[in-house]
Amino acid sequence: MSLPKDNKDSIPEPVKGLEGIVAADTNLSSVNGEKGILRYCGYNIDDLAFNTTFEETICLLYDNELPNKKRLDEMTKNIGEARVLPKEVIEIITELVGKTSPMSTLRTVVSVLGHYEKNVPLKELPPKALRLVGQIATAVAIIHRLRKNLPIIKANPAKGHAEDFLNMLHGKEPTKTQIDALNLYLILLADHGFNASTFSARVTAGTLANLHSAITSAVGTLSGPLHGGANEKAMNMIEEVGTKKKASAYIQNAFDSKQKIMGFGHRVYKVDDARKPHLKKMAKQLWTEKGNMKLFEVAEEIEKQVKDRKAIITNVDFYSAPLLYGLDIPTDLFTPLFAMSRIAGWTAHVLEQYKNNRLIRPRARYVGPIDRTFRPIEQR
Ligand code: SDX
Repeated sequence: MSLPKDNKDSIPEPVKGLEGIVAADTNLSSVNGEKGILRYCGYNIDDLAFNTTFEETICLLYDNELPNKKRLDEMTKNIGEARVLPKEVIEIITELVGKTSPMSTLRTVVSVLGHYEKNVPLKELPPKALRLVGQIATAVAIIHRLRKNLPIIKANPAKGHAEDFLNMLHGKEPTKTQIDALNLYLILLADHGFNASTFSARVTAGTLANLHSAITSAVGTLSGPLHGGANEKAMNMIEEVGTKKKASAYIQNAFDSKQKIMGFGHRVYKVDDARKPHLKKMAKQLWTEKGNMKLFEVAEEIEKQVKDRKAIITNVDFYSAPLLYGLDIPTDLFTPLFAMSRIAGWTAHVLEQYKNNRLIRPRARYVGPIDRTFRPIEQR
């Protein structure tokens, strides 16, 4: 008797977490996990990290080429002019702050912003997507200002994205090092292959749902502690350890109790994350300028204690934490900051998915009982 088509013996073994499964081609970024190399459209991030701006990265992901001065000025202006929110959205943020996390508020904001946009043909999508790049930064700043009962700082379109965000967040001009640090962070986290949140955006776009639906999916996916939520948890851990001498016992206890240590491990990297050295270097520079190396040294000691016990890689979130903390960004805004960067990659991937779309629909292997006999309720 041939097996029924949906019998588990007739379907291949599933690959848990789709580990190693190649779902599609992309021109946006390549992650070499064996060698720890990350490239955006063929450019190594080691070359982009300290030599470009976030706006250049956006041009690269959207145009598949680094911009000339004219294109960069146009991009900087467009994003600068997009750093405004409709007043009704600010009213919704006012309603939500203090009742939900900043990341949940941001997810709601992205969804609501979709109501202010028309569904447009593919060729008109890039400007619509770029508006979201600008608006997310303003939303994060306003969420923070409103929850602290501070006045909202208007965006200045003439400023670069990193500088203007820091001014909108803190209400004061950032130093050059602070601007450079945030720029570096935004460049390095902009795209990273088919990570969970990017893939969820592509799955949503794959049904031809609109851009804001796809990005709302991505924001929700990023919020999980196994993904974008790890940076906040890593900072909580660094603060909880508090001194270098407590790191060893803390990490030993974490391993003994089989806890996942936030900021370590990765599905793709077999060596340290390509972004780690740059984030670590910039975090150290920030803390050196602040004249207080304590928490940075605790982070270094934690990393040492982890690696002394297990061959496990340091991922992007571990040194993102002291970098963002060094910019006086509240820990519960760390994941929204991740979204402020990754919105560049998410939107570029959604555009790429629309351009060469096929519905993303894998199979499941049913492992329950087959062909059960139905009995009407009176007999159950
Ligand atoms: C990001 O995909 C991307 O590109 C994501 C990202 C991006 O830019 O978009 O790089 C950003 O999400 C980085 C990851 C941030 N998350 C964390 O830091 C959370 C802690 N990390 C882990 O939960 C874990 O490493 C994952 C989720 C990131 C990856 O998990 P996998 O690939 O499913 O690996 P696994 O859980 O099966 O672990 C394999 C082994 C296990 O040991 P054994 O049971 O085989 O002995 O490694 C161990 C795990 O216990 N392990 C860890 C660990 N991560 C893996 N042990 C302790 N602490 C950890 N963090």
